[in-house]
Amino acid sequence: MLKNRIRRDDLLNRVMSADEAAKVIHPDMVIATSGFTPSGYPKEVPLAIARRVEETGEKLNLTLITGASVGDELDGALSRVGAIAKRFPYQTNKDLRKGINSGDIKYQDLHLSHVPQMINYGFFGKVNVAIVEAIAITEEGGIVPSTSVGISPQAVKNADMVIVEINTSQPLALEGVHDIYMTENPPLRDPIPIKNPGDRIGKPYIQCDPDKIVAIVHSEITDKVRPLGAIDDNSRMISKHIINFLETEVKCGRLPENLLPLQSGVGSVANAVLGGLVDSNFEDLTCYTEVIQDSMFDLIDAGKVKVASGTSFTPSEAGLQKLMNNIEHYSKYCILRPMEISNNPSIARQLGVIATNTAIEVDIYGHVNSTNVMGSKMMNGLGGSGDFTRNAYISIYTTVSTAKKGLVSSIVPMVSHVDHTEHDVQVIVTEQGLADLRGLTPRERARAIIDNCAHPEYKEMLHEYLDRAEREVGGHQPHIIGEALSWHDRFLKTGSMKF
Ligand code: COA
Repeated sequence: MLKNRIRRDDLLNRVMSADEAAKVIHPDMVIATSGFTPSGYPKEVPLAIARRVEETGEKLNLTLITGASVGDELDGALSRVGAIAKRFPYQTNKDLRKGINSGDIKYQDLHLSHVPQMINYGFFGKVNVAIVEAIAITEEGGIVPSTSVGISPQAVKNADMVIVEINTSQPLALEGVHDIYMTENPPLRDPIPIKNPGDRIGKPYIQCDPDKIVAIVHSEITDKVRPLGAIDDNSRMISKHIINFLETEVKCGRLPENLLPLQSGVGSVANAVLGGLVDSNFEDLTCYTEVIQDSMFDLIDAGKVKVASGTSFTPSEAGLQKLMNNIEHYSKYCILRPMEISNNPSIARQLGVIATNTAIEVDIYGHVNSTNVMGSKMMNGLGGSGDFTRNAYISIYTTVSTAKKGLVSSIVPMVSHVDHTEHDVQVIVTEQGLADLRGLTPRERARAIIDNCAHPEYKEMLHEYLDRAEREVGGHQPHIIGEALSWHDRFLKTGSMKF
């Protein structure tokens, strides 16, 4: 059954059970795996490692590096048995998040474009084992990834040992979707030769020395993708404001008629924003992004998108079915690259990407918090948002104007944690409206954000704060420091930000 997937006879004797393969994992190892936003991550071997720990009570203290979030079979199973000591660079799993926020699991939230280079230089420690999901191993010994690429090329390159999970639930028709290009370390690094989002510059597989492959494990477990929230009125309004803005930019001659390559972040709002383009008048769109979510398939079906370049397919369950049932069709439009390339700041700047990402909260001067709820509790991580935000031609942040049933304003005097600064963020959008901050000074920005984006229930409170800060403190970016975060404090003490 695996014959057409493992195309080198000399590797067939390395096929073994997940339990057998898991034996190469020892305490304190650094493990780097495939997987990006519950897609294309290894499943059988992590489950076997978790079983082993459960049975033996062994303390593994693993350092786990992935491209981004992975499914429960990896992050969940290993967190629950206490096998993860350190985790880099992004996650969405509730058990892992619990461990991070209790301090039991050490976690560093990183710009995703930095991670491949940090692996090459050994900042997370020497990679002992790479575990990668693949659809096939070629005659050349090339590993063909499945539904994501992420850090797999660097994991394979730097690891002493490689375990490949051949997942036969992933269709062979994915072969040819991937474009694997790797950079050298400076000063030998060449400019990355991508001039258009559809340019293919690498190989369709990850080069691997066959001698490093210590185990090949058969898997049939499907990606445990995350549900996407229904497109609600707030998302529809946010999408409408962005489309109006883009139409105006075209009219003013600041964008071409088919726009510039679009980047769109993770989550329900991001998916809805892109979905709004289906009914717009824009044609011949291109995407140079990180994740390819459900609405990209709708845009392809509507004939609106010529090419979508990313590092992973990140569909919902319904989106995954659609993708798998029509894989030959969607493959023609999609390219999956290593995240070092999909998220590369130089390409984002060169292509003039229009970046749209999601904030947890935004402050009146345009600083954005995408990660730490109420300043302390890690949600997911900043992922690739910063890679695009600072380097895009236009960087847009969206958020619904209130959270927690209206008891929290997502527009606050001062964000409780900063991921993206006023220098990087150019446009803020909520369901209330859009604030174009380009060319505005801090005091002008504050009024634009409050007037256009804040929920009516919080507008007066925000204006009152700003007026007093200007009057009582003044300065370039007026703040009453002792009060700036009192909104969060009030929520934590009373359950509401309202006075
Ligand atoms: N204050 C407190 N909590 C807030 C909040 C605020 N201002 N705004 C949102 N939240 C909470 C919500 O209540 C929800 O909590 P729950 O899970 O306990 O219900 C949670 O944050 C997520 O909010 P939701 O509205 O479901 O957001 P989403 O699915 O659109 O995701 C982010 C929003 C910011 C968490 C998500 O986009 C993210 O992780 N972004 C960072 C990474 C990124 O941008 N990657 C893309 C780069 S290509």
